[in-house]
Amino acid sequence: MKGKNWPILSSIAYAMLRSERGLETTIGPFRAMLLRPKLLSIVSLVLQAREIRNVRILKGKRFSLDDSSNSVAHNRNTSQTVEKFPITTRRSEILYQLANTAQPFISRRQRQLLVVGPRNTHELFIAWCHGFKWSNINAIDLFSINKKIQVMDVESMTFKDSTFDTVCMSGVFAYLTNPRTALSEINRVLRPNGIVVIRYPTAAAPVDFAPSNTLNPSQVINWAKELGMTLAYYSYEVHTNSIKTRQITSLMCLKKGVRDGPSCYESVEFSLPEL
Ligand SMILES: C[S@@+](CC[C@H](N)C(=O)[O-])C[C@H]1O[C@@H](n2cnc3c(N)ncnc32)[C@H](O)[C@@H]1O
Repeated sequence: MKGKNWPILSSIAYAMLRSERGLETTIGPFRAMLLRPKLLSIVSLVLQAREIRNVRILKGKRFSLDDSSNSVAHNRNTSQTVEKFPITTRRSEILYQLANTAQPFISRRQRQLLVVGPRNTHELFIAWCHGFKWSNINAIDLFSINKKIQVMDVESMTFKDSTFDTVCMSGVFAYLTNPRTALSEINRVLRPNGIVVIRYPTAAAPVDFAPSNTLNPSQVINWAKELGMTLAYYSYEVHTNSIKTRQITSLMCLKKGVRDGPSCYESVEFSLPEL
């Protein structure tokens, strides 16, 4: 091979190997490897092991929001955190996959993420595996066993307006006494064109600790429209939940801002199947 070809070949090799600036389309081989089922559980277990001491202290109710309006949700979730330790569920993962699909034009590593109600670091680790930069992952819950999680109520957040590009809320909506207030707060802290991904039980057996676990998706979407948000994605699944009853779970993505053109959701009827 003639020496004059080297600059061309090395430019091609460099173009193939360098990471994309601004827009990453893949999560990279390391994080992809960590997403393998057993590996994710093992690494998460190591991370959660560092929180054991705080889980024990949680029994004594320290590190918590002193707010009686949330006491039922708080008591249920602190006891669940103690009983279900370590957590291995991957139910929140679809939120991060959907968030990445819904925001293809913003770099995953640059996006400011707010995770509402993660319970512990397990969900934050899943978010990191899906490409978010650790320092851009922010989290709030009614209690905290890790300094990465701030004690804050989603219905009255102290963040400034337009702080986040992405908000993910898995399994939290059902616990809220004022879900519309929470949505309004999320809309406030989202940047223009930012998105919130929500997964919550839409139809489930009534339980005292989850006052909003039968909230119809049409209701949530109407609130979102009133707040100036647009529905970007909706789906539901019928399954058996952890207390062994049948449940319909909704997954939706709402975008801050109104769409210019027509939406495929304009005429969707949210008729859900009977359980
Ligand atoms: C069922 S856990 C969900 C854990 C995790 N996101 C998942 O999907 O596996 C619900 C979490 O929401 C939190 N939560 C409930 N009400 C909240 C509120 N008003 N503000 C912030 N977090 C809340 C609970 O403390 C709990 O950690």
